[in-house]
Amino acid sequence: YSAFKGVDQVLILACGTSYYAGSVARYWLESIAGVPTNVEVASEYRYRDSVPNPRTLVITISQSGETADTLAALKHARSLGMQTTLTVCNVATSAMVRECRFAFLTRAGVEVGVASTKAFTTQLVGLFLLTLVLGQLRGRLDEAQVGLHLKALRHLPTAVAAVLALEPQIVAWSQAFASKENALFLGRGLHYPVALEGALKLKEISYIHAEAYPAGELKHGPLALVTAAMPVVTIAPNDQREEQHAGGARARRRAVRLRRRRHPHRERAGHARDPHARALRTAVADPARGVAAAAGVSHSGGARHRYRQAAEPGQERDRRVTPGARPHVERGGAIPRDCSGARRAPRDAHGGILAAVAASTDPRAPDGFDPPGPCQQTLGRDAGAGRHRPRDRACE
Ligand code: F6R
Repeated sequence: YSAFKGVDQVLILACGTSYYAGSVARYWLESIAGVPTNVEVASEYRYRDSVPNPRTLVITISQSGETADTLAALKHARSLGMQTTLTVCNVATSAMVRECRFAFLTRAGVEVGVASTKAFTTQLVGLFLLTLVLGQLRGRLDEAQVGLHLKALRHLPTAVAAVLALEPQIVAWSQAFASKENALFLGRGLHYPVALEGALKLKEISYIHAEAYPAGELKHGPLALVTAAMPVVTIAPNDQREEQHAGGARARRRAVRLRRRRHPHRERAGHARDPHARALRTAVADPARGVAAAAGVSHSGGARHRYRQAAEPGQERDRRVTPGARPHVERGGAIPRDCSGARRAPRDAHGGILAAVAASTDPRAPDGFDPPGPCQQTLGRDAGAGRHRPRDRACE
């Protein structure tokens, strides 16, 4: 690893799924190893002027090792004087492996289907190991810390097995998704690229149009598209990000309380006069608005323009939160439960993946997203743990 000693920056070049793996790794490289990291869509990189740094470690990520855009980006990076190159690649005999100075082979086996799923997971593992190496070289991690990370990593097969055990529920969900034309995926932090990957998979495999947004961006436009017919998948595992979601919600509630104390008359008068503001206040009581709540906001797509009217001039829209907003999703790790709260898989200490479907369950909507099965299933450690909504009761 001595070649990496002089590295003070990382540049990741990749396309598609591999780009999303790199985007996840950026969070690790910056937070664990403390290395400034850029991730570039390889097909774009050579078409703009960038500022090269010869002490950059250029990492290409590619399942096939033959993607022309990634190879061209690599060539471009080298032409700019960045010679320390490493590829995370699945094919030992590929052009990418030949062209790069170092290679990390993911050994995921031959890619048969188009979905690139095993490529994605093995790329992530490779990039995480690389993060540990760089973290050690930069003095950010000692042996013991690396050992703890490796121990956690060894838990991965169990976590993946727990997720795969969810297949029956996921098959049931897919019945509900199958008739949809569009879907939204949301995620915060490193779960945002995971959401992007989820949307790409839905597009490629199901031919359903899907987009992904950082959770906090929902309210800055796409919320207008959220109707009863729009499934929204939120990536919300049990991790520090969950605490940040909660912390964000607490901060927003505090801001609302403060504003009320400062402008009691304006607040009360405003709400009394403006029926739309009142509607906004009660929006989260309606499950159809659960999506907005899941993203940390509490208003409906249809009410977006009203929401703007209700906002104080000059105040950020995301501070305008209806008091008492509660996410419509139940969060959790990897223990699926049915609506009786019974566990269906062994406890997963590390949380694992998890997607909670936060979509309209409004029974009045003719085309409403209505998950089949015994209840609105949630993949999660705490799922079903005594948190039954009315529709859950109905299905018991
Ligand atoms: C998605 C998919 C593509 C590839 C992309 C890069 O399922 O297969 O987005 O990830 O074309 O391919 P590689 O990783 O071979 O460079």
